[in-house]
Amino acid sequence: MKKDILGTFSEKGILLDPRAIDALAKMPNAAECADRIINDGENRPLVLTEEDVLRYALGTDGGVCVVREATVRLEEDREQGAPVERKVNVLKDITGNSTCVGNVIDFAKLFNDRYATLRKMLSKRRELAGLIPIAKAKKLQRDLRFAGIVNDSRTTKNGHTMIELEDETDKIQVLVMKGSRRDGDTYLKDEILGVVGALSKDGEIVIAKDIVRPDIPLRNGMTPNGSDSIVAFVSDIHIGSNTFLEKEWKRFMAWLRSSAVAKEVKYIVMPGDLVDGIGIYPGQEDELEIDDLYEQYSLLAETVKEFPDWIQLVMMPGNHDAVRLAEPQPALSGDIKDLFDSNVQFVGNPCYMEIEGRTILAYHGKSMDDFNSSVRHLNYTNPQEAMKEMLKRRHLAPIYGDKTPLAPEQKDYMVIDTIPDIFVTGHVHVCRIDEYRGVRLINASAWQSQTAFQRMHNQMPDPARVPLVHLGTGECWVEDFTS
Ligand SMILES: [Fe+2]
Repeated sequence: MKKDILGTFSEKGILLDPRAIDALAKMPNAAECADRIINDGENRPLVLTEEDVLRYALGTDGGVCVVREATVRLEEDREQGAPVERKVNVLKDITGNSTCVGNVIDFAKLFNDRYATLRKMLSKRRELAGLIPIAKAKKLQRDLRFAGIVNDSRTTKNGHTMIELEDETDKIQVLVMKGSRRDGDTYLKDEILGVVGALSKDGEIVIAKDIVRPDIPLRNGMTPNGSDSIVAFVSDIHIGSNTFLEKEWKRFMAWLRSSAVAKEVKYIVMPGDLVDGIGIYPGQEDELEIDDLYEQYSLLAETVKEFPDWIQLVMMPGNHDAVRLAEPQPALSGDIKDLFDSNVQFVGNPCYMEIEGRTILAYHGKSMDDFNSSVRHLNYTNPQEAMKEMLKRRHLAPIYGDKTPLAPEQKDYMVIDTIPDIFVTGHVHVCRIDEYRGVRLINASAWQSQTAFQRMHNQMPDPARVPLVHLGTGECWVEDFTS
């Protein structure tokens, strides 16, 4: 096997690191991944590393080898009348992979990885064919195409927008003219942009003709795959809070046990804030029913025992949970994990997972605080709009140093390198369903009534609702347990 792999690649002039050969040899779909690498044109690396192999295995533009294989398996099983395997495959999360110690070098690695991954995506865009480094662009006069990370963006006294972009070679000032087609857009600190433009006469700045984001291509969404399972999304339960909606939760439990539809609910994904936690904000103690973190998780464990046993649960932490606050957050572990039965699977935040041939990107959504305060048209009532901004930027939390703490991992786990079928968030406690270029967008409600903090900020929650997606057809709807 290893010899075959080596032979295939050496024929194409690609060298392999020994660990890359091992990684490929272990993959059930090695041939497909090898094809992807070989056919990736100029983008394919000269020396293939283990990390490259894993990146190609996950896919960078919507193709996920693992998922495609799961879909084929699902279709074959159904044709043969075999029972469908109930399984949640974690495709990517930080759990067990954290390497950061938090020094300056780590931060440099994080931003280099972000830049390299998103630049590669931009380089595939027709408008940006022939991207050049900023240092080289500064020596040319017109038809410049380059990419960089946003250092700063400001409005000039004449109402134009001036962006400072940087890459590994240099920095450059880019002017977006007032009234031009990209005027009015918000350029976030630390997002990656592509620019088409020309140098000004004095060679000091670039006048932008176009600003290009990585974005996702237009797609048709979920085509039927034969699955008859439903996945439900239950976010922000906030066990331990004195505003936990016990009556509504019991109504949901009764529905799960008695409704014919609920018999098909085979998976429940919980995108964070499982418990209310302690010391999360000043004065939280006045709003707690249970002021011990371990007891909050114990009660959660008891509560989820009431779920029917045909349901596989997936629990992810949020900013109220007992893991590090910096994102990406690893899965809950140790004593807390031991409280739960084996039908609960713990994942990190964010997490790419595959369920019956569908790719789900689940992210708690803390960065919405930054998106909402930075981008003019965004607010807490319509989180699906912030989710679209994330997809356009192919990044869940671009801004460093604002309200969302980011851990300096060597690889940027917040990059949206694979296009999901379903993108789910929580955090803002409303229930919304939308779609962006074929991706289902879901904000998964909450199980807590309006808190004092939300009242102070005039945020109206939309709790006790459960969004569901039929994995076979892609149909999406909401069950309401408010009355
Ligand atoms: Fe929450």
